[in-house]
Amino acid sequence: MQKKFTSFKELGLVNSREMFAQAVKGGYAIPAYNFNNLEQLQAIVMACAETKSPVILQVSKGARQYANQTLLRHLAAGAVEYAAELGASIPIVLHLDHGDSFELCKDCIETGFSSVMIDGSHLSYEENVKLTRQVVEYAHQHDVTVEGELGVLAGIEDDVHAAQHTYTEPDQVEDFVKKTGVDSLAIAIGTSHGAFKFKPGEDHEIRLDILAEIERRIPGFPIVLHGASSVPQELVQMINAHGGKLKDAVGISEDQLRLAAHSAVCKINIDSDGRLAMTAAVRKVFDEKPEEFDPRKYLGPARDALKKLYIHKIMNVLGSNGKA
Ligand code: G3H
Ligand code: 13P
Ligand code: ZN
Repeated sequence: MQKKFTSFKELGLVNSREMFAQAVKGGYAIPAYNFNNLEQLQAIVMACAETKSPVILQVSKGARQYANQTLLRHLAAGAVEYAAELGASIPIVLHLDHGDSFELCKDCIETGFSSVMIDGSHLSYEENVKLTRQVVEYAHQHDVTVEGELGVLAGIEDDVHAAQHTYTEPDQVEDFVKKTGVDSLAIAIGTSHGAFKFKPGEDHEIRLDILAEIERRIPGFPIVLHGASSVPQELVQMINAHGGKLKDAVGISEDQLRLAAHSAVCKINIDSDGRLAMTAAVRKVFDEKPEEFDPRKYLGPARDALKKLYIHKIMNVLGSNGKA
């Protein structure tokens, strides 16, 4: 079957350009929440509609494989209508998280994504510039915005030096932004993906000094923070109290994220905290009501827990409430 080009505009979505301009000016950050299923999407839309926050719905390559990209696109389009039904016409971006090839970015652009990330952070600087530029040239023809990345986060992003961050080099950012034409830049300042961001005894601080230096080099340019989950300890304890085994799970302090959100950071990526909230709620139901087998009876509480978490992030960390 011949694939039809679907512009994000047909789906009622927006790109991130205006959203970021407002966020940089207003000193807040837009939530970028990952979703893979209906309950996660419902929780995101409910939380953002209730707080009148703009939102970036993020889809990873893994999410596309898990949930089917056609279904995800229709869910995102449905989210626009659903938010309106909830009484809030909030701007919604559908964003590819960690795109790893031109072909994947192109496919997303052709099927309704309004924003893509091309993550060339593992490549040499020259190769990263070349690949990112190629994606930007195609994306901008369709008014789709592009996030690039400089520097490597420790953890799953860095197979070779798994424990080591390669911080973004402030000397490179101006040249990268100019040569690639990207709309936003993800940087590495000590955050990392997943629920185990620091080893016991390790310094938990992120390098806000590098962020400040980057901001000085490219004033007003939208900066993105990946790996920004806080790993709330009450969720970790709840998971462990109901049979889970998460040892030494730790994240980024919300105080530091608040400071980052006030600066040029205008997109903060949160996935793991949502996974923890859902897991804690599901485990609690299974532990306390072993006779329960209706998925709505455990996915419902998981959705409620997610919504609460997302509202907390918006109101108390990102400051995007009332900005829709
Ligand atoms: O950056 C990673 C995101 O948390 C998405 O994770 O690739 O397991 O869907 P995933
Ligand atoms: P966390 O694993 O810290 O939630 O980061 C998510 C992320 O960066 C998605 O791209
Ligand atoms: Zn990420």
